[in-house]
Amino acid sequence: MSHHYLEFRNVRYRYPGGQEALCGISLRITHGEKVALAGVNGAGKSTLLLHTDGLLMPSEGEVIVGGVTLRRQTLRLVRQSVGVVFQNPDDQLFMPTVEEDVAFGPANMGLSPDEIEARVARALESVGASALRHRAPHTLSGGQKRSVAIAAVLAMEPSVLVLDEPTAALDPRARRQVIELLRGFDHTMIVATHDMDMIGELCPRTIVMARGRIVADGPTRQVFADRAEVESWGLEPPRNR
Ligand SMILES: Nc1ncnc2c1ncn2[C@@H]1O[C@H](COP(=O)(O)OP(=O)(O)OP(=O)(O)O)[C@@H](O)[C@H]1O
Ligand SMILES: [Mg+2]
Repeated sequence: MSHHYLEFRNVRYRYPGGQEALCGISLRITHGEKVALAGVNGAGKSTLLLHTDGLLMPSEGEVIVGGVTLRRQTLRLVRQSVGVVFQNPDDQLFMPTVEEDVAFGPANMGLSPDEIEARVARALESVGASALRHRAPHTLSGGQKRSVAIAAVLAMEPSVLVLDEPTAALDPRARRQVIELLRGFDHTMIVATHDMDMIGELCPRTIVMARGRIVADGPTRQVFADRAEVESWGLEPPRNR
């Protein structure tokens, strides 16, 4: 079975002491799809994405990656194929230097030093961050941190790439570079974003969330066709869909 697909079956999640943030999410994303996850602040996008590699475990329902149901016992296995870029890069970068941060994942995978070096160089190059290699991550700008966080996940060469707001805080050139990079990623990808124009350019399919539920799921053009409905979700259609 392909390890590139991702499925949620009636997933519910409640934060400890909080309200229900996912209220019965079902979706299936198959090999090679590029899917946008849209919705206003607090809709549940990040909560959903944190379920894709078991950073959060469903209160009810199941998350299945390539036929493997996420459980404590399968976490390691699933994390070999799913790479998550967090909404806040500070949650991702914790080593003394950028190169160590990017090497961390590949090293954990038990790769050879040559292979690790090759992946670090390639990943940093792909996000235009080679010059930051020896810097301390906490000294970087917000956009630089984000680029490095993306490189750190790409270096693991995941077969399912999950990104939470990958273009937030990026200047136009860095944003363009990330979009082109993601466009070239030929595995499965799900990206939560408020960057509607990126959705139009990058994602043939869009899932819209509101208050912990999926309110639309289909071809991007179709999902954003009815302006009144789009406005009722608190969104605007991409200008270039
Ligand atoms: N750690 C937490 N503890 C309690 N409630 C939380 C926590 N994180 C998020 N929530 C709540 O869960 C709901 C969904 O939040 P989530 O972060 O998934 O939204 P989002 O769609 O990613 O929003 P944004 O566009 O602002 O990133 C919100 O009501 C939020 O207040
Ligand atoms: Mg979020």
